[in-house]
Amino acid sequence: MRTSTLLFGMVVVLAVIAVCGAGAGVLASQARSVWDGVYTVEQAQRGAVLYVEACAECHGPDLSGGEMSPGLAGGEFAWNWNGLSVGDLFERLRVSMPQGVPGSVNRQDKADILAYMFEMNGFPAGESELANRTALLAGIAFAAEPLQN
Ligand code: HEC
Repeated sequence: MRTSTLLFGMVVVLAVIAVCGAGAGVLASQARSVWDGVYTVEQAQRGAVLYVEACAECHGPDLSGGEMSPGLAGGEFAWNWNGLSVGDLFERLRVSMPQGVPGSVNRQDKADILAYMFEMNGFPAGESELANRTALLAGIAFAAEPLQN
């Protein structure tokens, strides 16, 4: 192999490493999680009312769960969803909850209920509401503990 070809190859490899490194840095700095204030206090208040109507019967008035239904707040719940996205969690309750009649609660009301669940899990409120679109929620990480930067 000629030296120039070898040098060119090395330059290409270094450039790829540089670009990938920069990309990873951008991703890390943009990563949002449930600890970044992804819902509002008002939204959680609306969600609390809706939760009592549609979910409390099975998941308990304080979200601690019932005979057959898992808790929706606390360590076990949080670690169950740790590492997944808020989009995953939203899809879960969008397609399957309330159990048996998932169509009885609309998309916006489910986003509000999720905001209430976040409040009850100790995640901080913020300036903007939790969206009711899975694609947007997919960009928010569910983390049982605050992510270290
Ligand atoms: C009729 C009882 C019932 C009602 C009402 C109900 N759920 Fe459930 N829910 C369950 C059961 C049972 C499970 C576990 C089995 C399953 O996933 O189907 C579950 C599972 C879940 C899970 C998954 C929990 C986990 O950690 O994997 C979520 C989230 C959830 N429910 C949210 C809701 C929300 C929000 C509402 C109200 C809109 C609701 N549920 C209403 C019975 C119910």
